[in-house]
Amino acid sequence: MYAINTENLTKDYALGFWRKRPYRALDRLTLQVESGEVFGFLGPNGAGKTTTLKLLLQLVFPTDGRAEILGRPVGDVAVRRRIGFLPENPYFYDHLTAIELLEYFGRLLGLSSREREARVPRLLDQVGIGAERRLPLRRFSKGMLQRVGLAQALINEPEVVFLDEPMSGLDPIGRRMVRELILGLRDRGATVFFSSHILADAEAVCSRVAILAGGRLAAAGRLTDLLAFGVKGWEIVVDDLGAEALGRVQGLAAKTTRIAENRYALEWPSTVQPERILTDLAAAGATVVSLNPVRDTLEDFFVRQVAEHGNQRISPA
Ligand SMILES: Nc1ncnc2c1ncn2[C@@H]1O[C@H](COP(=O)(O)OP(=O)(O)OP(=O)(O)O)[C@@H](O)[C@H]1O
Ligand SMILES: [Mg+2]
Repeated sequence: MYAINTENLTKDYALGFWRKRPYRALDRLTLQVESGEVFGFLGPNGAGKTTTLKLLLQLVFPTDGRAEILGRPVGDVAVRRRIGFLPENPYFYDHLTAIELLEYFGRLLGLSSREREARVPRLLDQVGIGAERRLPLRRFSKGMLQRVGLAQALINEPEVVFLDEPMSGLDPIGRRMVRELILGLRDRGATVFFSSHILADAEAVCSRVAILAGGRLAAAGRLTDLLAFGVKGWEIVVDDLGAEALGRVQGLAAKTTRIAENRYALEWPSTVQPERILTDLAAAGATVVSLNPVRDTLEDFFVRQVAEHGNQRISPA
């Protein structure tokens, strides 16, 4: 059984006031997420990530296709209790304190007072909300609200957790906190489905990703399979490279970038053995500052996929 399963999931929004025309936000998304996976749902702005999450949470209804969570149709009451959700822009009653808010959601989800007493402070610790937990939320910064939102999403110890841009608005420490939290959820056996357009975040925690562009699935799979993680080439930074030697190596290098007087970054394709280049450079009297393999990053892949598939939509017929 899949944790999440969609088949041809499609959403048209009506655009225009007098003459409504359909606008396809999501186009036949078919996707399976295994139980216990951390799944990254990636795509540029407007790709349809939030629309997909809203469909999975039944905040909007599909034009076509279907979706299941934990083997049941979305909206199944028993399943709802087993899922957690962090919206893109969490909005809370801002006169409540963080403790009161979590207490409120805990009660809403039918947790006993003993469960709430145990979970609320633990979750706030986990997301790094300290003494501020007794302040009204209107005094919280965006990043702090995001942390409270995360705690709220986890109050019922969900089996499937949906996070819409969980790292947005967070500083580097906050991002690391979210990564650790996600990995902790995975270790507990939960499935995490999160959207992001920040690829480094996905690279750090995901087993598999899907890339959405223009409402369509552009690619899905294990990161290691999607990317040629192999070395694409070599970058060597050299110092003391005289004009004459530069002329000689320039002809062989794929790219030469001048950093400073006599200091250059040189790039070679992977077909050239780095040992040979180093010998040649040493013979020319240059000093090697660094040698780095150039790899295809998720960023490169993402840019390529979006370029190939486009982020524009074709209106449904
Ligand atoms: N309620 C709505 N009515 C009309 N169009 C909508 C509505 N909600 C979303 N859209 C459109 O659907 C497309 C997909 O939007 P969506 O919010 O799902 O993108 P996203 O991938 O979450 O983007 P972002 O990274 O900016 O959050 C966008 O072009 C958006 O303008
Ligand atoms: Mg969004």
